[in-house]
Amino acid sequence: MSQISASSMPQASTFAEVETDSFRAAMRELAGGVAVITVGKGSDITGFTATSVSSLCAAPPRLLVCVAQSSDSWRALQRHPYFGVNLLRNEEHALADRFAGRDGLEGTARYAGTRWTTMLTGTAVLENALAAFDCEVTEMLPRYDHAIIIGRVCALRASAGSFPLVYWQGGYHPFERAIVNPGDR
Ligand SMILES: Cc1cc2nc3c(=O)[nH]c(=O)nc-3n(C[C@H](O)[C@H](O)[C@H](O)COP(=O)(O)O)c2cc1C
Repeated sequence: MSQISASSMPQASTFAEVETDSFRAAMRELAGGVAVITVGKGSDITGFTATSVSSLCAAPPRLLVCVAQSSDSWRALQRHPYFGVNLLRNEEHALADRFAGRDGLEGTARYAGTRWTTMLTGTAVLENALAAFDCEVTEMLPRYDHAIIIGRVCALRASAGSFPLVYWQGGYHPFERAIVNPGDR
């Protein structure tokens, strides 16, 4: 068995790639919380909807998000190495669509009609987010047609008492608390 060091990836595989379409179809089964990633400063702002947010490490607090290298946000991150992660509430599917570019708006226009604030870095964060993380970029790792962005969490706010927006099988779904039968525990 070949050894793979922790810091390197195999350059070639003996196994053929699985079909992209079947990969996409299988990944549709992965339910994800929806976030809006805010990027930029002043009038040079943009952002995108993402389900690829993940906690990398809690001590110290670091998170990651994957961004397409074709996106405006990837280019904005080269200019301003900060980003906000805004976890959306159940009812925020219109905002998710807007930051996914589904109504044709770009840049600052995606921010109109929504209340924003700032914390430490000056990046806009959603006032009404379920939780918001104000991050400084520590690493940007281009991989294939995306890049992994690692953020140092400089400030955060969280507000309980609401449900998250969930994306599954290509659509938004109301979150329902699992009903646990006491006999099943
Ligand atoms: C539910 C959902 C999740 C998404 N997750 C990601 C993601 O994790 N990373 C990413 O780069 N794009 C993701 N996208 C696509 C971007 O939101 C979309 O391409 C966006 O318009 C890119 O910004 P741009 O118009 O500035 O290029 C997602 C879209 C949706 C609807």
